[in-house]
Amino acid sequence: MRAWVLISAVALIAGAARAQTRPDTKVLTCTTAGCHAAEIGHTFLHGPTAVSACDTCHEYHDAAAHTFRLKRPGKQLCEFCHIDKTGREGPFVHDPVAKGECTACHDPHGSETRLLLKKATTRQMCLECHQEAMGGTHRHKPVDEDCLQCHKAHTAPHAKLLTMERRALCLSCHETLGQAIAASSHPHEPAEGDCLQCHRPHAAEHPGVLSQPPKDLCLSCHEEVGTAMSSASHPHSATSDSRACLNCHAAHQSHHVKQLLPDPVKACLECHAKPVQAGGGRVVAAVAEVTDPLAHKHGPINDGDCAACHDVHGGGRGGLLAAPFEQDFYRQYDPTSYALCFTCHDRALVTAQPVAAETAFRDGDRNLHAVHVAKSPQGRSCRACHTTHASRHDKLIADSVQFGQWRLPINFVKTERGGSCGPGCHKPAQYDRGPTPDPPRPAVPRRPG
Ligand code: HEC
Ligand code: HEC
Ligand code: HEC
Ligand code: HEC
Ligand code: HEC
Ligand code: HEC
Ligand code: HEC
Ligand code: HEC
Ligand code: HEC
Ligand code: HEC
Ligand code: HEC
Ligand code: HEC
Ligand code: HEC
Repeated sequence: MRAWVLISAVALIAGAARAQTRPDTKVLTCTTAGCHAAEIGHTFLHGPTAVSACDTCHEYHDAAAHTFRLKRPGKQLCEFCHIDKTGREGPFVHDPVAKGECTACHDPHGSETRLLLKKATTRQMCLECHQEAMGGTHRHKPVDEDCLQCHKAHTAPHAKLLTMERRALCLSCHETLGQAIAASSHPHEPAEGDCLQCHRPHAAEHPGVLSQPPKDLCLSCHEEVGTAMSSASHPHSATSDSRACLNCHAAHQSHHVKQLLPDPVKACLECHAKPVQAGGGRVVAAVAEVTDPLAHKHGPINDGDCAACHDVHGGGRGGLLAAPFEQDFYRQYDPTSYALCFTCHDRALVTAQPVAAETAFRDGDRNLHAVHVAKSPQGRSCRACHTTHASRHDKLIADSVQFGQWRLPINFVKTERGGSCGPGCHKPAQYDRGPTPDPPRPAVPRRPG
């Protein structure tokens, strides 16, 4: 800068003389004579230009005709003073640097940037040649700031002129994400590797600078889920909307098995806290009871395990049920009708007669489950008395149950040794297991298999 002020002063004095004749002996007078003002008309001047050492780069081709040639070819012109650093910062060399095209980016005389770039910013300089690598409506913020946050301009230690190994580069800014993945009990395997398996570095057509929309992205590796989805006679639209898999799964890491979101039940309730519309104008009832603080919840619901009973990616049964569960109030007893319940519960609770500890729904040793359920031809299904998710009554007994057009109340009251109900089915009845306490029963498995 000081040099520029000095040269300007000289140029002004020389300009006052306005000796517009061409110098014929020494190149050194080319600016002092008031000519070639453009070469010194920059905020930042190149060292040799600043001291009018034009002849370090230019020499006469024909002095009489005042034509010049460059003293040395290509980058040798620059390397006369600047040591060749190619390879010193790594084996990867930028194409124009390798070709010695230093002046593709640098102005040999001076510029508006200290680095003598031909454009006002590095970014603009890079975009002169790389506009096409930047396309996409969803932009990665640092790319709109400065390319050199990730790239080297001349030579680099990593492919694509990167300053660091790819994952380390991403995590150098996304530090908290890196820590979360490292600390997670269930990191998503690809998130422990190259981030660019899923993201684009600069910009993309999809939110989150993702290389593909979430569904296509996830299915590109999880083909078996795609097969389950496409072969399902009862699809679940949550798997194919714009967020698709991300409705339920975390992309990078999780504290649950199967990469589930931090609160898997809440993830379902994002949609199912209210009734939702299914195909054909059918409305699927809300299941807000699963988070009702006053309700007793079914074992798997307490475990956040909705998939214990539902084929969440879509399946072959109504209600996305993972196994058969009788729809109707009455049904001739057949254990396969309740296969869903019997994946976890021992079917002896319905069949043992006389009964002891198999079920608490007994009067002395008379199995009241058998009385109601294992009956021909009109056995009652579990639905006649139980809810499957949660209930404000003990033992998942429903408040009321649909019977034809009528909501039939159950009025269940639990007592220490039994209970009573006053349903519309019969006059109020009570049961008593008797004075001997039950021996402890084996725990119900949390999950089949
Ligand atoms: C570091 C080397 C270097 C120095 C020093 C240098 N030039 Fe240049 N000059 C060049 C190069 C290289 C070109 C060719 C530009 C191109 O190819 O883009 C050039 C081109 C020119 C041109 C042709 C017009 C143009 O801008 O392309 C003029 C005139 C010129 N220089 C004048 C000067 C003057 C006057 C000085 C001293 C004040 C000077 N140069 C100092 C390297 C230099
Ligand atoms: C005659 C010697 C000489 C030649 C030839 C020369 N330079 Fe320079 N260059 C200098 C000097 C001196 C500086 C100022 C160094 C400083 O300020 O530390 C400089 C500074 C620079 C800078 C700014 C560096 C910075 O850190 O601010 C760039 C960029 C540069 N030169 C590029 C080139 C290019 C490109 C060429 C070839 C076209 C070239 N130089 C040829 C001597 C030369
Ligand atoms: C693709 C554009 C581009 C090309 C081609 C290029 N440079 Fe640079 N150069 C830059 C940028 C950008 C910087 C600033 C780098 C930084 O800040 O890390 C720079 C920095 C420099 C510097 C100052 C910093 C240093 O490394 O000493 C010099 C000197 C320099 N270049 C010389 C050259 C020479 C000589 C060539 C040809 C062999 C060349 N450049 C080719 C873009 C380029
Ligand atoms: C004068 C044109 C030009 C400018 C300016 C330029 N580049 Fe390049 N760059 C190229 C060419 C040519 C290639 C090699 C062909 C290709 O991959 O497109 C290349 C390749 C690259 C590559 C890929 C390297 C590889 O190994 O595949 C990166 C990254 C890159 N440039 C970054 C930059 C950055 C950052 C800037 C600004 C500092 C920049 N370029 C400025 C011409 C340029
Ligand atoms: C956040 C870091 C980051 C920033 C900022 C960044 N890049 Fe890149 N760039 C990358 C990564 C990572 C790759 C390697 C992509 C790959 O290998 O698929 C890359 C690749 C490239 C390539 C090679 C061609 C390609 O698409 O694979 C070019 C050219 C390039 N970048 C230019 C630029 C330019 C120009 C800028 C500034 C406008 C810039 N980059 C800003 C990270 C970045
Ligand atoms: C120089 C720092 C820096 C580097 C390096 C960097 N990022 Fe970023 N990234 C940011 C910033 C800043 C944001 C914007 C954050 C915000 O808006 O809260 C961002 C945002 C993102 C987003 C969210 C974009 C969105 O629209 O939601 C993703 C995804 C991302 N980065 C991935 C990457 C990947 C992959 C890499 C490695 C190739 C990387 N980042 C490297 C700084 C960086
Ligand atoms: C398996 C694919 C995949 C991999 C690998 C991956 N991401 Fe992501 N990333 C995503 C998806 C999908 C989103 C969008 C999440 C959302 O919208 O809920 C995302 C979002 C982001 C965001 C936005 C904020 C956030 O946390 O949701 C950042 C930043 C990010 N990723 C950085 C990274 C970095 C850094 C890596 C490498 C360590 C990486 N990603 C690896 C798929 C991936
Ligand atoms: C680049 C390939 C790749 C992509 C893309 C990918 N995954 Fe994965 N995913 C894996 C690998 C590898 C594993 C660990 C091996 C396994 O369990 O299948 C895994 C594991 C999982 C698991 C746990 C599986 C289990 O049985 O515990 C879930 C769930 C999962 N991914 C969901 C997703 C979702 C959702 C997306 C999209 C955001 C996604 N994946 C994108 C490769 C990928
Ligand atoms: C409605 C919530 C939901 C959606 C949407 C969803 N998943 Fe799942 N996914 C789950 C649950 C819950 C499990 C655990 C299943 C289990 O434990 O049996 C799971 C399990 C998985 C597994 C482990 C293997 C398996 O089948 O148990 C993979 C892989 C997986 N999902 C990938 C995906 C992909 C890919 C998408 C998007 C196309 C997706 N999921 C959409 C809830 C969902
Ligand atoms: C993005 C919204 C959304 C999320 C999140 C979601 N669902 Fe659904 N679900 C629906 C819609 C809409 C339907 C209606 C059928 C269809 O169009 O897929 C449905 C249908 C169902 C059905 C079938 C009901 C019937 O009677 O046909 C069950 C069961 C179900 N979802 C369970 C779940 C579970 C379990 C989760 C969490 C693991 C979950 N859903 C997450 C939107 C969602
Ligand atoms: C013990 C098995 C079981 C578990 C665990 C379970 N469900 Fe269900 N779910 C069912 C049965 C049975 C139905 C009734 C299906 C029918 O009527 O066709 C049902 C129905 C539904 C429906 C449709 C609404 C309705 O009333 O028909 C939704 C939505 C639903 N469940 C969501 C969930 C969610 C969310 C979770 C986890 C919080 C969950 N389910 C856990 C067995 C279960
Ligand atoms: C994934 C395993 C699983 C499935 C499938 C399952 N249950 Fe359960 N069930 C449990 C667990 C675990 C408990 C809690 C047992 C305990 O606390 O000792 C339980 C408890 C119960 C209780 C007693 C509730 C209480 O508050 O003590 C009833 C009633 C019940 N289940 C009915 C059903 C019915 C009806 C079905 C079929 C629709 C069914 N279960 C399917 C695992 C399951
Ligand atoms: C007529 C009403 C009724 C029907 C129908 C019924 N249950 Fe029950 N069930 C009860 C009552 C009442 C209890 C509570 C017993 C107690 O703890 O006092 C109970 C308790 C249970 C328990 C807790 C463990 C036990 O046996 O005490 C399970 C599990 C259970 N029922 C499963 C089922 C299944 C599965 C079906 C369908 C195959 C079914 N129930 C049908 C009324 C019924």
